[in-house]
Amino acid sequence: MNSSYSVSLISLVLVSCILVTSAQPTPPLVGGLSFDFHRTNCPSLETIIRDYLREIFSSDFGMAAGLLRIHFHDCFVQGCDGSLLLAGSASGPGEQEAPPNLTLRPRTFVIINELRNRIHRACGSIVSCSDIVALCARDAVFLSGGPDYRVPLGRRDGVNLATRDDTLANLPFFDSPISELIKFFADKGLNDPTDLVALSGGHTIGRSTCSSFVGRLYPPNQDPTIDPIFAESLRRICPSPTASGFSPLDIRTPNVFDNQYFVALQNGRGILNSDQRLFTDPTTRPIVNSFANNQTLFFERYVFSILKMGMLNVLTGTQGQIRTDCSRRNTVTTHLATGVDQQGETAAF
Ligand code: HEM
Ligand SMILES: *[C@@H]1O[C@H](CO)[C@@H](O)[C@H](O)[C@H]1NC(C)=O
Ligand SMILES: *[C@@H]1O[C@H](CO)[C@@H](O)[C@H](O)[C@H]1NC(C)=O
Repeated sequence: MNSSYSVSLISLVLVSCILVTSAQPTPPLVGGLSFDFHRTNCPSLETIIRDYLREIFSSDFGMAAGLLRIHFHDCFVQGCDGSLLLAGSASGPGEQEAPPNLTLRPRTFVIINELRNRIHRACGSIVSCSDIVALCARDAVFLSGGPDYRVPLGRRDGVNLATRDDTLANLPFFDSPISELIKFFADKGLNDPTDLVALSGGHTIGRSTCSSFVGRLYPPNQDPTIDPIFAESLRRICPSPTASGFSPLDIRTPNVFDNQYFVALQNGRGILNSDQRLFTDPTTRPIVNSFANNQTLFFERYVFSILKMGMLNVLTGTQGQIRTDCSRRNTVTTHLATGVDQQGETAAF
């Protein structure tokens, strides 16, 4: 290849990189996180995740929504530290008394641990479960047709279980008024109503059990803002107040990450109260309209807000640990020199 050709090729690539980054506003990174954290010590990290998830989603598409929701719950409860993944946490794997309505899909925990296994085999135990979750959430969105974006890495895993009370107190409730949800998000650090609207756009994929919306369909709290034909179709899915069916959260394009969720809200066809009220409430309605009218704008704002969410109360540096099994804390060990404790577990570095 002649050298002037390769020079111009390089400058072309550089120019397009600059254009791509400048088009996407990015929130300031929290200290200790960086886009290049694992660039040299685990170059195959992102390929391992994307290739594996592409394969999983081709036969079990619901896992995309399941993984996105795990990242959200992880970050809201004790910060993005993977505590949700611990067996013994209120909605963790194997927990028999999970709080009602949290309904995380059990297979997502298996997928995250399998990825952790593949990544640690390739690179050593240097990538945290919480970073893996953040990357899974990004690929869940991208592989569903949504935006691609770079994820700042360097999170460490927490050692505290998320109790039932912690979990319930730190997740937003679907029947809350928008003013309360705005405040709830702001208290977390997501202090712009646009964060609430853009992140609720995560409901462009996935499903809800009847129990989370059936209250809107029957007396005494039947919702007058719901489109009557749509309400009728939901009553067929949930024929009684105690029915156990599912509805997609975005009835227009349930498996595609796009802005059709917001168009559905304009038509009175949101599933949860917290969805539909984004359109009813005068504070958030203009934001819903702007996203319904312009998918590029929604993608841009979604990426901004999910990056912000992904940095909430993260552990970095020497805090926490790199778990060698996402569902268990590493055994405390005095054998750091060998990196292996008496039970043969690799220690955290
Ligand atoms: C206003 C705040 C939010 C509330 C009240 C809320 C509530 C809910 C509820 C009640 C469900 C259905 C659970 C069931 O099966 O009954 C759900 C599902 C889901 N949520 Fe949210 N959510 C909120 C914000 C978010 C955010 C910020 C994200 C991620 C960006 C997200 C992603 C999802 C996904 C992907 C599902 C579908 C999960 C699946 O299909 O397995 N949610 N949410
Ligand atoms: C769970 O759903 C039921 C039925 O909709 C509701 O009464 C209850 O308050 C919900 N609990 C939580 C913690 O969201
Ligand atoms: C849609 O949003 C993008 C991103 O903010 C913006 O550049 C573009 O001009 C908007 N398009 C329209 C038609 O308003």
